[in-house]
Amino acid sequence: MRVVVIGAGFVGLTTGVVFAEQGHETIVVESDPTRVSSLQSGLVPFHEPGLQHALNECISNKSLTFTSDLAGAVVDAEASFICVGTPQGPNGAIDLRFIERAAANLGNALRNQKNPHVVAVKSTTIPGTAADYVAPIVREASGRPIPVASNPEFLREGSALHDARHPDRIVIGMDDEGASMLWDLYSGFDCPKMTFSTTTAEMVKYVANSFLAVKIAFANEMANLCDDLRIDWTSVVEGIGQDERINPHFFQAGFGFGGSCFPKDVAALSALAEARGCPSGLLKAALGNNAAQPLRAISLLETGLGNLEGKRIALLGLAFKAETDDVRETRALPIFEAIANQGALAICHDPKAAETFRSLAPQATIVDDVYAAIAGADAVIIQTNWPEYSRLDLDLIAAQMVGDLIVDGRQTLDPAACAKAGLRYRGIGRSA
Ligand code: UGA
Repeated sequence: MRVVVIGAGFVGLTTGVVFAEQGHETIVVESDPTRVSSLQSGLVPFHEPGLQHALNECISNKSLTFTSDLAGAVVDAEASFICVGTPQGPNGAIDLRFIERAAANLGNALRNQKNPHVVAVKSTTIPGTAADYVAPIVREASGRPIPVASNPEFLREGSALHDARHPDRIVIGMDDEGASMLWDLYSGFDCPKMTFSTTTAEMVKYVANSFLAVKIAFANEMANLCDDLRIDWTSVVEGIGQDERINPHFFQAGFGFGGSCFPKDVAALSALAEARGCPSGLLKAALGNNAAQPLRAISLLETGLGNLEGKRIALLGLAFKAETDDVRETRALPIFEAIANQGALAICHDPKAAETFRSLAPQATIVDDVYAAIAGADAVIIQTNWPEYSRLDLDLIAAQMVGDLIVDGRQTLDPAACAKAGLRYRGIGRSA
């Protein structure tokens, strides 16, 4: 099939690559000309494991192309996927400006086309958006009764390619049969495939992300209590995780959830619930808990060091999670700001996210070498569990630090090994 993907962010680009790998002639349309030329020359503009290689394969076998010309791209195309951002707007509700522009441009581009065409919204949208907002815009601009479906995406940054190649389920929301040709696109995937209404499909996405966010917030709250009681949270997770109703996944405690999805999606669902007169105390509590959790890093520092004024703190891990350079809603930012507010100096490090973090905190001192961040530090905070941090040489750290305090937010180091090296281990979820 001939497929158009609108938006070359990590969802759009990964989706485009995987459709191309499935043998579909895929065209990714991106409005930023710099990004288009970078992609045409085979350069992925962000860090996503495996994507660079997969992109080069698709470019060399000509299954994937890039353009800014939407009208040219939709000629003879059977389906278009809207993969633009839905950032957080006022009061938690989502901002539909990019969706509106994509829907109107797409409708205009389809006006002179005769062949059947389906529009699928992959961007995360509040229930009712595909049917009541996108469909009218597309239909009015095109002058055609084009079917508009919802096809939520469940891939994670850092493992986007794997998740898109091996989805655990595919959900398509459609309100008329005309959209069912979307299933032909997914015929090569062997996983449960579910057809719902567009509003149900949109709700599936919000409930999935919100449940996972609430699960993490619960894990963080319980891990804080376990730390206080000197109980190892990772052992508790082992103990509860064999119960199929609970399972051990997404219980990793830390400084809170970040990224472009969970904080925004929980806020949007909470705002919707409020607006509909069904307020969700659980969602609000998860957001409150998540705002407070990064400050655990500061209280652990204060417990170990006393007053932080004049202290030097190595802050390791600036990305919102490992294997990405994305810093949206990263917990490193509130931690960095709180350190500065206490009159201490943060020396930061991240294997991939130094540049992106600099755009959030231009004043940050960020060094390329992790041991240069640690040298002379009174304490080290591990914010992101990059694999290289779990392989740090503890004896070298102990020799280079002025102090001896390790605040491990992600269960990255072994407390006993730290103690053996003469380091004081404090963290979240793993009692020393
Ligand atoms: C999330 C969902 O997991 C995807 O299914 C969804 O498609 C995506 O949002 C989206 O809506 O586009 P993502 O935000 O990329 O994916 O990354 P996650 O691995 O879910 O992590 C989100 C945050 O939760 C990170 O800050 C991570 O460190 C944190 N987290 C995750 C924990 O603190 N503990 C865990 O056990 C798992």
